[in-house]
Amino acid sequence: MKRHFIIMNWNADTPYNDLPLLPPKQELETKAVLKQCVKSRTAVERINQAVDHLPNPSLLINILPLLEAKASSEIENIVTTSDAMFRSSLLEKGTSDFATKEAMNYREALYEGFRSMQQRPLNTMTAELICSVIKGCDMHVRAIPGTNLRNEQLAQTIYTPPVGENILRDKLSNWERFIHQELGDLDPLVVIAISHYQFEAIHPFTDGNGRTGRILNLLQLVSSELLSQPILYHSRSIIRRKSEYYQFLNRVTSHEQWEPWILYMLETIEEAAEWTFRKIQEIRELRHKTKVELREKFPRFYSTEFIDVLFHQPYCRIQDVVEAGIAKRQAASVYLKELVNYGLLAEEKIGREKLFVHKQYLALLLNES
Ligand SMILES: Nc1ncnc2c1ncn2[C@@H]1O[C@H](COP(=O)(O)OP(=O)(O)OP(=O)(O)O)[C@@H](O)[C@H]1O
Ligand SMILES: [Mg+2]
Repeated sequence: MKRHFIIMNWNADTPYNDLPLLPPKQELETKAVLKQCVKSRTAVERINQAVDHLPNPSLLINILPLLEAKASSEIENIVTTSDAMFRSSLLEKGTSDFATKEAMNYREALYEGFRSMQQRPLNTMTAELICSVIKGCDMHVRAIPGTNLRNEQLAQTIYTPPVGENILRDKLSNWERFIHQELGDLDPLVVIAISHYQFEAIHPFTDGNGRTGRILNLLQLVSSELLSQPILYHSRSIIRRKSEYYQFLNRVTSHEQWEPWILYMLETIEEAAEWTFRKIQEIRELRHKTKVELREKFPRFYSTEFIDVLFHQPYCRIQDVVEAGIAKRQAASVYLKELVNYGLLAEEKIGREKLFVHKQYLALLLNES
């Protein structure tokens, strides 16, 4: 059967070694794109302002990457629950549940990538590092053929990426130069959209390309100084429009249709930024309310440090109270029990660990609306 959309030198079943280098040779910053850029940028900037107003921004750096990790892993159909993730992030030995472990690896990869930016600018090595943490083994740019993207339901190959390590590395070095704006002068958000397509089209690894690419997007937001921390919950808005994600990526390849892809990326960034902003507001409000309440009801042990422990994650352990220097073990245990009796926390036993669930906080984080 002949595919009606085959154009030029591209065919879904043949390695696309002719994948064009960046920048794309067409007008990219169209009127519609520029208009959307302004909206997305404004939304992202609001996150930074909201973060600046938080008494303890580190809580977001703990929480949001967990949610992001879960959403990004859902694209791969490694479905875990946010609840399992939150718990597992507290348990020393981690988890034996495969899905949760993969998602935790995603968060670790995001941190690793973020840390590596202090040493060197984003490049192919950063991508290898990120992918290795995601997959839990050493990942390098593909040296052998055999990787392709398939639609299993239709038993059809959707795309076959280029083959040959040298070809991949050349295309990646062009991608590097593009993300550092050596090849043009585009809005940083447009650069993110274009470079994400290119990274996925190069598909440097045998697996983990989607997750690695989505982490790179967050890091690019930081390196272009649009975000101060990598805390955009972008994967959520991507999975909500997942079929468009695949469709628009494919249209760039088959029809060089850049505009719908760029607009899609800008819109999902805007949507994610708005969601993240709302969550930060809600967290601030709940924190304030809890603070007032505990100060009044539990003056004996109320302190800002205690509030921080309760908001660090939606779960806490006796150990966390001790480590925050609030009380010795026995007293810490008594305080937490009092909060259980009061109804703020719920006690759960997981293996040998006692976890205290901050009920309202967990509900706030899990609540999608
Ligand atoms: N037509 C396409 N052309 C190029 N890239 C594509 C196309 N369709 C999907 N992709 C990208 O390929 C990724 C899947 O590749 P891979 O399995 O290596 O990544 P992953 O991280 O394991 O999976 P996932 O992204 O599903 O979590 C998708 O997330 C998407 O970014
Ligand atoms: Mg995969």
